[in-house]
Amino acid sequence: MCGIVGIVGTRPVAPLIVDALKRLEYRGYDSAGVATLSEGNLDRRRAEGKLVNLENRLEFDPLAGNIGIGHTRWATHGAPVEVNAHPHFSTKVAVVHNGIVENFRELRTELQADGFTFSSQTDTEVIAHLVAKGMKDGLSPEKAAQSAISRLTGAFALAIMFGTDSNLIVAGRNGPPLAIGHGAGEMYLGSDAVALAPFTNRITYLEDGDWAVIRRDGMQIFDLDGNTVERAQQTSVGSALMVDKGNHRHFMIKEIYEQPEVIGHTLAHYVDFNEQKVALHEMSETEQPIDFASLDRLNITACGTAYLAGYTSKYWFERLARLPVDIDVASEFRYREVPMSKSGLSLFISQSGETADTLAGLKYCEAEGQHLAAIVNVRESTIARSSHSVFPTLAGPEIGVASTKAFTCQLSVLASLAVAAGVQRGHIDRERETKLVAELSEAPRYANEVLKLEEEIRQLAHSLANKQHILYLGRDTNYPLAMEGALKLKELSYIHAEAYAAGELKHGPIALIDEEMPVVVIAPHDRIFEKTVSNMQEVAARGGKIILITDPRGAEEAGMDGAELIVMPSMPEIITPIIYSLPIQMLAYHTAVHMGTDVDQPRNLAKSVTVE
Ligand code: AGP
Repeated sequence: MCGIVGIVGTRPVAPLIVDALKRLEYRGYDSAGVATLSEGNLDRRRAEGKLVNLENRLEFDPLAGNIGIGHTRWATHGAPVEVNAHPHFSTKVAVVHNGIVENFRELRTELQADGFTFSSQTDTEVIAHLVAKGMKDGLSPEKAAQSAISRLTGAFALAIMFGTDSNLIVAGRNGPPLAIGHGAGEMYLGSDAVALAPFTNRITYLEDGDWAVIRRDGMQIFDLDGNTVERAQQTSVGSALMVDKGNHRHFMIKEIYEQPEVIGHTLAHYVDFNEQKVALHEMSETEQPIDFASLDRLNITACGTAYLAGYTSKYWFERLARLPVDIDVASEFRYREVPMSKSGLSLFISQSGETADTLAGLKYCEAEGQHLAAIVNVRESTIARSSHSVFPTLAGPEIGVASTKAFTCQLSVLASLAVAAGVQRGHIDRERETKLVAELSEAPRYANEVLKLEEEIRQLAHSLANKQHILYLGRDTNYPLAMEGALKLKELSYIHAEAYAAGELKHGPIALIDEEMPVVVIAPHDRIFEKTVSNMQEVAARGGKIILITDPRGAEEAGMDGAELIVMPSMPEIITPIIYSLPIQMLAYHTAVHMGTDVDQPRNLAKSVTVE
């Protein structure tokens, strides 16, 4: 995840900014940079790799100036090389940005037609030129920034500095977090309070749609219509920790809110948003690339939520790549003595990369001479080091025991791999690849949009809190998602919940249905929606209370008058499993909060089960 820092200070800020960026290193990055304004001159230093390279650059060629912005970049658009490192410049404008500008291509075309030339492959550079264009057209720096921010589509957090004003930084947020720090005659800006801890613990968090004018003596926050908005100033207690909860009550809800950002970063590692094609990242020299065309079978082994991510991908690999998939929980697989195909691939999915059962499954497949691939969130974990091919999720540290952002990042990797497999196996042509990648690139924005349903979901969760049993139903990719919803509820609130393929209800489980049994149905309006509707009618006819998670068309056509509805935005089919994860996470979270359980460390559970 990228990191942003800004200081409107009273002393040379470049070394302060670098120190603050160091406190954001946990977010992961592959290049960094700082820009300052001194005597009307905007200047910058950037470097690939770790911050020490930037420090060496600054030692050799220092930057003066009491106002500056800095950035640690995790490459999304454009390779992790210096020319793509932030800050990005235009005429008298410097910008740092975290997230994805979805409409950057059309903006770039417009700006090039206006005579702006681009020096990087990034989406971020369009922001700098857009602001410069506004100022060229006579707008003040603040108005030019407001106008530019209002034209951006996607999930982003950004900071803008101007060569014409040594007492002004404009910040904007729509998705990834942004914290403003209040100092004594200085003001600060950071991706979270951790970065600002050396300067202040008095923090104001921007909300989505906010933009702020920050000057030495304070700041003003506005909405995109230019109306002043008020945001609480709070004392950040956890900022001494390298990873803190920010302004969230639990790590779990913080990590739920990080999903727009980390899904974007993960996807950017596997698709080229510029060229709109899948682009599996370069393997290290010790790794082996995967030739999906040569495979006749894919075996997926994992545990818990990771297993359910794999289960979801079974539908994708089989449908998009015509590749048969076997999947099993590792604790069963490790003893089944499964005959393995010589032309098969064995894929292991694990957030921690240390789960004992999953590692045991890997050892079995290693003994069977399989090509071993792993999707992990901890790059240096045992499972990663034991595999021939490693596909990292870029979720950042996941502290909450209940997995959330790791799950949606696993799905993001798996969707990308399934498209890559389809392309390599000749089942996805260039046109369809372009469409699928464009749809995947919308995931961060939809994730950010769906987070706005939290309050509605929180109120709905209260109706579950005193129930003894809850059923989750889904069909197709919504079936493993139903299992994930049931798992989240069980592990967080200790309420018994189970999931069924909706079509399986009539083969026994429907005997459970009565007015005391809430039934959560996950059903976007897709190719089999009508089938799920009839399952819901079977439930309603027996007094079951339905919570339907669907989209506007599904809500309209379901005709379930008595049902509680969570209406999601309509979205491309390929991303529904990723985005529909968020309401089921929030439903489980708020049920648990209402019940007073230990959300971040539920009873009996460990974050990584390193024993059998
Ligand atoms: C997920 O919410 C659970 N905490 C658990 O099922 C977890 O997914 C499982 O233990 C696998 O862990 P791993 O991804 O680290 O291998």
